[in-house]
Amino acid sequence: MAMRAVVIESYGGPEVLQVAEVPLPEPAPDEVLVRVHATAVNRADLLQRRGRYPAPGPRPAFEIPGLEFAGVVERVGARVADVRPGERVMGILPGGGYAEYVATPAGMLLPVPEALSLEEAAAVPEVFLTAYDALFRQAGLRIGEAVLVHAGGSGVGTAATQLARAAGADVFTTVGSPEKALRSQALGAQLALVRERDDWVAAVREATGGRGADVVLELVGGAHLARDLEALAVGGRVVVIGTMGGAEATLPLSALMARRARVVGTVLRARSREEKVALTQEFRRTALALLARGVLRPVVDRTFPLAQAGEAHRYMEANRNFGKVVLTVRP
Ligand SMILES: NC(=O)c1ccc[n+]([C@@H]2O[C@H](COP(=O)([O-])OP(=O)(O)OC[C@H]3O[C@@H](n4cnc5c(N)ncnc54)[C@H](OP(=O)(O)O)[C@@H]3O)[C@@H](O)[C@H]2O)c1
Repeated sequence: MAMRAVVIESYGGPEVLQVAEVPLPEPAPDEVLVRVHATAVNRADLLQRRGRYPAPGPRPAFEIPGLEFAGVVERVGARVADVRPGERVMGILPGGGYAEYVATPAGMLLPVPEALSLEEAAAVPEVFLTAYDALFRQAGLRIGEAVLVHAGGSGVGTAATQLARAAGADVFTTVGSPEKALRSQALGAQLALVRERDDWVAAVREATGGRGADVVLELVGGAHLARDLEALAVGGRVVVIGTMGGAEATLPLSALMARRARVVGTVLRARSREEKVALTQEFRRTALALLARGVLRPVVDRTFPLAQAGEAHRYMEANRNFGKVVLTVRP
């Protein structure tokens, strides 16, 4: 059996993303075969397309990008008891999402709340799990704390803003333009600062009565780290989850000591299957109900058909999106 998928045959610009016929994946006994309705683009896909972010493990015969999906269960492996064909599901993947079918462990599935379409659901898994993990498991965010989210208009930034607000935190964001600042505030940021225009360290300190942010989600990386420490409260935590603005940084040790601060790095994709199942299940227990009630909602900026994956990459590469760029596999 064959399916259509976007395959990276050689690394390069958006034009290398071409639809091809590839074999249908075969689910293992603890896996589920899902008919994909939509997937979404992540920053990492742009690097992978250029050959700079290989999927974990040996290179597959067909390199299909795509870190998430939403769809309908087609059939289940022999050892899967709690998932049935016909159920609407979503989840993260180590790759392979730009395709008509994916095979994935049953433990990495999340049920899609009724309130969400499958296109909206495709915008949930990667950024909400990343932001959830960073805020609550890595930074140990507590009620009433102040959070600074860099790249507040990114997929991860829009998820983190909402999750932190839902947890009772004050949220500050940095973004690239006044237009994105307005949208970030509409999403729940108390203050959205324009990166190149505003003195965001001073603004965050002032807004917190001189205390600083308890948690910083660092998606920009290198260029920011020294200023993150200046913006940080005593006992603060910086979680580094992206390096869009550079992978090298200077760390002012006296500020680190004076604030008794912690700087933590994290990635999702390289983690073991067991760790991903554990994160997925924790999110299911704690945050899924908030998606069902509309307290959290995926921000879908634009939708492209799968065959226009290259266009979708161009759009994201130009930093035009606020929130997620979705690829429709089955309209
Ligand atoms: N560690 C993990 O497990 C993990 C998981 C998922 C994502 N991530 C990382 O999280 C980040 C966001 O990913 P995403 O898919 O949510 O991104 P996205 O939706 O593509 O958004 C990225 C946004 O960041 C801003 N940006 C781009 N280049 C920048 C630069 N050089 N300096 C400052 N800002 C820049 C742009 O917004 P403005 O217009 O506002 O500048 C851009 O729209 C990436 O670094 C990604 O690798 C990490």
